[in-house]
Amino acid sequence: MGKIGFIGLGIMGHAMAGNCIKAGHSLAVYNRTRSKADDLAARGARIADTPADAARGADIVISMLSTPDVVEDAAWADNGFAPAMAKGAIWMDSSTVDPAFSRRMARRAAEAGIRFIDAPVAGSKLPAEKGELIFLLGGGSPDIKAAMPYLKAMGKRFIHAGEHGKGAALKMVFNYCSGLGMAVFCEALVLGERLGLEKELLLDSLPGSHVVMPLITGKKHKFATDEYLPEFPLKWLQKDLVLATKSGWECDVSLPLGNIGKEIFEMAKVKGMGDLDFSAVYKFMKENY
Ligand SMILES: NC(=O)c1ccc[n+]([C@@H]2O[C@H](COP(=O)([O-])OP(=O)(O)OC[C@H]3O[C@@H](n4cnc5c(N)ncnc54)[C@H](OP(=O)(O)O)[C@@H]3O)[C@@H](O)[C@H]2O)c1
Repeated sequence: MGKIGFIGLGIMGHAMAGNCIKAGHSLAVYNRTRSKADDLAARGARIADTPADAARGADIVISMLSTPDVVEDAAWADNGFAPAMAKGAIWMDSSTVDPAFSRRMARRAAEAGIRFIDAPVAGSKLPAEKGELIFLLGGGSPDIKAAMPYLKAMGKRFIHAGEHGKGAALKMVFNYCSGLGMAVFCEALVLGERLGLEKELLLDSLPGSHVVMPLITGKKHKFATDEYLPEFPLKWLQKDLVLATKSGWECDVSLPLGNIGKEIFEMAKVKGMGDLDFSAVYKFMKENY
């Protein structure tokens, strides 16, 4: 069993770290809001005072943070984890970031003598809790093989997409589908209601049918109850569409739908819905269309 430094204990990181403990690994955990580590400490994790403290002596550091800027600070700012890591140790970044960022982190890691894997995940709170995430991996095969005992503690499927940045690229594509798919479904729901159809009838007929993706079907209860407790916070889905459209600009592809979707979620965020689940875009549309 290995020694893990785990950085970031939000909705996803907390569940993933818990599964690493369950698998028998030894954990030092760091989170900006320290109290989120309390129950992990009760299960045997050591609470670190800084990211660097979590990384010392670790075989692998796993970061699960919100945005590229936050990841970069946790890694390289004062008390950052990267310079504290042992030479040859692995940094696995599971945060959703853009491919150019992952490639840059891989270069910096190599200069510091550490191995880097971009390893974002498909799957939300429930798969994270069940250890059933799908890992989208970018990096060298030997490094991914070395990380497998840790990956297996948290996931059920592992897709090696290619060299550094390709895991992040695949994640951009996954979330492009989930974000825009959600926006289309919610707009259709609003249309149906304005056409005089009962919401109950719409929710009985659309989710589970061939036209609605399983991710949305799994959130049927949220639309039914108008409760949007976050599994995947809307502000992070909006961030992912920002990163996807930026990445599109970098590779010269026009993304009209992505840009419209990004702004729809931005408007919902500005209306105070950023911390709700991203399915709350329905609430935004219903109140504002
Ligand atoms: N939720 C999902 O369904 C899902 C699925 C796949 C991928 N993701 C991606 O996974 C990552 C984490 O998502 P999440 O849902 O776990 O989000 P979350 O619950 O909001 O957690 C975000 C994490 O980042 C930390 N953080 C945020 N801003 C920070 C700052 N300025 N300085 C230091 N730490 C900061 C938070 O610390 P505090 O606890 O102190 O706020 C927390 O550890 C994101 O990149 C997201 O896009 C999420």
